[in-house]
Amino acid sequence: MGMPSVLVLNGPNLNLLGTREPAIYGAETLDDVAALCREAAGRLGIEIDFRQSNAEHQLIDWLHEARTHVDGIVINPAAYTHTSVAIADALSAIAKPVIEVHISNVHKREAFRHHSFVSPIAEAIIVGCGTQGYVLALERMATLLAKKVAQ
Ligand code: DQA
Repeated sequence: MGMPSVLVLNGPNLNLLGTREPAIYGAETLDDVAALCREAAGRLGIEIDFRQSNAEHQLIDWLHEARTHVDGIVINPAAYTHTSVAIADALSAIAKPVIEVHISNVHKREAFRHHSFVSPIAEAIIVGCGTQGYVLALERMATLLAKKVAQ
């Protein structure tokens, strides 16, 4: 059996990480986050596919592919967290664990960021841990997938 594979999906505006509101999101770029995730994946013995899109339909198409191609999903849906029934539906259609990540503590911010369409579907939610949240999510995902293999 091959290594478990995890799709790490990033939503709109996260391509601007590092230059976008650094007081909220930090100075690291999305490439830095991808490197952090690859380093963690190597250590955890999982494979990752790290992607970002600004387009809702693209994120949904990738989630459809993921139904048959990956073992778990780590997703920062960015603003679509708070707006997209379509992304929540696509995640519901996948019988694989989903972990939701937000770099900032959305609960400390505007009220419109307090609701997530994704949270009811997520196995776990990591907010306000900065980019380390992605590493924490991958660690948790590796634990969940190892349990599945052991069953
Ligand atoms: C975010 C929080 C969202 O409210 C926001 O729209 C983002 C990023 C985060 O990672 O903190 O784009 O998901």
